[in-house]
Amino acid sequence: MGSLIVDTPVAIGRISDHGAQVLQWQPSGAEPVIWLSSHAVFARDVAIRGGVPICFPWFGAGRSGAMSPAHGFARLVTWPCTATTEQDGMVAVEHVLTQEQAVDPQFPYRYRMTSTASFGDELTLTLLVENTDATPFSFEVALHTYLAVGDASSVSIVGLEGAEYHDKLLDRHVVQAGPVIFDGEVDRVYSSTSDVILRDPALARSVTIAKSGSASTIVWNPWVDKSRAMADFGDEEWRDMVCVETGNVGDRAITLHPGEAHEMKVIVSVSSHRPTS
Ligand code: BG6
Repeated sequence: MGSLIVDTPVAIGRISDHGAQVLQWQPSGAEPVIWLSSHAVFARDVAIRGGVPICFPWFGAGRSGAMSPAHGFARLVTWPCTATTEQDGMVAVEHVLTQEQAVDPQFPYRYRMTSTASFGDELTLTLLVENTDATPFSFEVALHTYLAVGDASSVSIVGLEGAEYHDKLLDRHVVQAGPVIFDGEVDRVYSSTSDVILRDPALARSVTIAKSGSASTIVWNPWVDKSRAMADFGDEEWRDMVCVETGNVGDRAITLHPGEAHEMKVIVSVSSHRPTS
């Protein structure tokens, strides 16, 4: 399974052809911003635990609750790499997936999906979905971003105050009061178009996730028991990550008519709170 390594004066990064999945990114001199499990499995038809999986054309078990594999097929297949460009130390990598590489009877349509990952002092991820079929289709989509943190129990996320979310653990709809904190398993789908900031006191930094074309933000941390239950996840690794995912899921799914396209974009940036000497 091929992957491309970026190592320039501006940034370090890595992206796999498997799922067009970003596996690493950090601006030069910074601690890793994207998290990858030390237990991740790299194999055909297996999702890589960490990085930025692309969930498409459904999220989780889909709107019906009956779709399989979880999070769709796009993260399980090889995406042909169609372009790589470099300018001033910023490297952009493009992958394209169509029904010629990945079909599924649960999504029997002609589509074209273009993923562009730009590794610079920011990480910019763009997903363009085009309906190349003769009939309309609907899909869910997410950039399932695993962020590296110093200690999940001390981070907070601002930008979701007042947003309604579906608590997947309790199957309840709730309105967010104040910043999101982690003191147990969290699995929530927020209805929100807002940018968010992850404050990380242990690493003395903030990570900003700015987005467009997205009406859902998913926040996930498996905490203790679920970490132990996952074979490709270290028992203590829940402390090292939180997922802040950019998507359009559930009743925010996108419908495209023939010839239409939808673009979703995420820009991840990091600012250090450490005084410069
Ligand atoms: C999150 C979901 O996006 O991904 C969670 O909201 C899920 O419910 C998690 O457990 C991990 O999913 P997976 O399929 O990669 O184990």
